[in-house]
Amino acid sequence: MRSRLSRCFWLLLLCYCFLSRRAAAAPRLPVRAVNLGGWLVTEGWILPSLFDGIPNKDLLDGTQLQFKSVTQDGFVAAEKGGGAGLVANRSQASGWETFKLWRINETTFNLKVFGNQFVGVQSDGSVVATAMSPGKSETFRLVRNAGQNRMRIMAANGLFLQANKDSSVTGDYGKSTSWGDDDPSVFAVTRVTGLQGEYQICNGYGTAKATPILKNHWSTYIVEDDFRFISENGLTAVRIPVGWWIASDPSPPAPYVGGSLQTLDKAFKWAEEYNLGVIIDLHAAPGSQNPFEHSASKDGSQDWGTSAANIAQTVQVIDFLASRYAASPSLLAVELLNEPLAPRASLESLKTYYRDGYNAVRKHSSEAYVIMSNRLSSPDPTELLEFAGGLPKAVVDVHYYVLFNSMFDTFTVQQNIDFIKTNYSSALSTVTKQNGPLTFVGEWVAEWQVPNATKEELKMFANTQMDVYGKATFGWAYWTLKNVNNHWSMEWMIKNGYIS
Ligand SMILES: *[C@@H]1O[C@H](CO)[C@@H](O)[C@H](O)[C@H]1NC(C)=O
Ligand SMILES: *[C@@H]1O[C@H](CO)[C@@H](O)[C@H](O)[C@H]1NC(C)=O
Ligand SMILES: *[C@@H]1O[C@H](CO)[C@@H](O)[C@H](O)[C@H]1NC(C)=O
Ligand SMILES: *[C@@H]1O[C@H](CO)[C@@H](O)[C@H](O)[C@H]1NC(C)=O
Repeated sequence: MRSRLSRCFWLLLLCYCFLSRRAAAAPRLPVRAVNLGGWLVTEGWILPSLFDGIPNKDLLDGTQLQFKSVTQDGFVAAEKGGGAGLVANRSQASGWETFKLWRINETTFNLKVFGNQFVGVQSDGSVVATAMSPGKSETFRLVRNAGQNRMRIMAANGLFLQANKDSSVTGDYGKSTSWGDDDPSVFAVTRVTGLQGEYQICNGYGTAKATPILKNHWSTYIVEDDFRFISENGLTAVRIPVGWWIASDPSPPAPYVGGSLQTLDKAFKWAEEYNLGVIIDLHAAPGSQNPFEHSASKDGSQDWGTSAANIAQTVQVIDFLASRYAASPSLLAVELLNEPLAPRASLESLKTYYRDGYNAVRKHSSEAYVIMSNRLSSPDPTELLEFAGGLPKAVVDVHYYVLFNSMFDTFTVQQNIDFIKTNYSSALSTVTKQNGPLTFVGEWVAEWQVPNATKEELKMFANTQMDVYGKATFGWAYWTLKNVNNHWSMEWMIKNGYIS
C-alpha cells in the first residue's frame, strides 16, 4: 500500500514537473522575439565572408550579366526575349539583353534569357535561345580578362562567340586574343546583380567543399551563449528560418548540405534550457515562394505553389518538422511559409497549402501556434483573416520595414516615426481583429534611410516600433540577432545601448 501510494506520489510529482515545465517554457503572449537569420538559411549580406572562398564568387547561380560587343558597340540581346536568335546591336540594355547564369563550375555556365530559354550553339554555328533545358550545346566557358571587365564566351564546340558586322552572333571564332577593341569575340561585361543564398553558397563551393564550411558556420555562428544572452535580455522567443531541404537531412538533394537538422535539434535543447519559445519558420520552400535569395531561389525564379505536387511536398516538410519537435516544451509555433510574393503565389494555392499545413501541425500538436505569412505585395492585407480566424491558435504574420520602397528614401527622422505611429499602427489594427487570428510582426528592424542619425534618434525609432508592434496579439520579432550591418544586429543594438 505504502509503496503504491509513494509510486503514485512520484508519478504525480513527475506529471506536475512535466506540466509545470511546459507551462514555464511556453512564453506568455505577446512574445518579444528575435530572428536567427543567416544561420540555417544563408543570406550573403548578413555575413559576406562565408562566400570568400568561392572562386569567381561574383559569378554564382542567378547572377545577371550583360555583354556589349566591343567591335559592334552594341549589347547582345536575345531577340523577342527568347525563342529566337541572338544579336549584338542594342544601344541600351534591359531584360532581353540580360543573361542569368546557371553555374556548372567556376568557369562553366548555362545562360538563361528573359523568356527562360537557354542560349545554345547549333551545328552551323548559329546562336539561339530556344532550349527549354540546358544540354551540352547550351554550355559555355566564360574566359575573363578581369581587370577590364571583359570576357570571351567559349561554346562547347571549342570556338568563341563573335559579334558579326551584320549584328548576328555566331559561335565560330577560333583565334586567340589580346583583348583589344578590334576583336569580335571580346565583350565588355556588366554585372547587373546577383544572389547570395543557400543555393549559391552550396553550388558555388560545390557540395563537398560547402559541407565543412556550412557545418562550421552552423556550429559557431549561433551557440548556447546566444540563447543565454537572448533570455537574459528580456526576449522570450526565437524565430528560426529553415529551408525545405532540412526535411531530407542528412542527405538533402544537390547542391544542399546535410546537417542543419542537428543544429535545429541543438537550438531546441538550448531554448528549453533558457526557457525560450521556438518559432520554426519555413523561410525557403521548394521552388521558392519569392524571387529573393532568402527563399533559396536558384536564379530569381519563383515557382512555389504552381502545382499540387509542390504544395504536397511543402506540407511534408511541415509534417516532418512538427512531428520532430511536437514533444519539445519549447515548440511555440510553426510558421508555414515566409513572405510568399503575390501575384505569382496565388491566394488560392496559398489557402490550400495553409489549410493542409495547419492540419499537418495539428496531427502532432494541439498546442503549437500555426503562423501564416501575409503575401508580400498583396492588394489586401486582410485576405487571410476570415480563413485563419476559423482555425484555433492561428496567427497572421506581417512584416514592417521603412525600407525597400523609394518613398522612404527622403524620409526624415520625424516622418519615419510618424509613419510607424500612424500608418503601420493602423495597418496592424486592420489585421488585428477581435475573434480574428492572432497577429505577429515577424520581422522589423531599427534601420531606416536617414543618413547619420544620432543614437538618441535611433533609440526613439526602436522604442516607437516596440510600442506599436507590442499591440500585435502574438508579438513581434526583430530581424535579426547578428548581422555585419550593426543596426540589423539586435545583439549589437542591445550591447551598445540602442535597445533595452
Ligand atoms: C538588330 O539586328 C537584327 C538582325 O540583323 C535586326 O533584325 C534588328 O532589327 C536589329 N535591331 C536594332 C535595334 O538595330
Ligand atoms: C568545368 O566543367 C567543364 C564541363 O563539364 C569541364 O570541362 C571543366 O574541366 C570543369 N572545370 C573545372 C575547373 O572543374
Ligand atoms: C500614412 O497615413 C497618413 C495619415 O493617415 C496618410 O495621409 C498617408 O497617405 C499615409 N501614407 C501612405 C503611404 O499610405
Ligand atoms: C554622413 O557622415 C559621413 C561620414 O561622417 C559624411 O561623409 C556624410 O557627408 C554625412 N552625410 C550627411 C547627409 O550628413
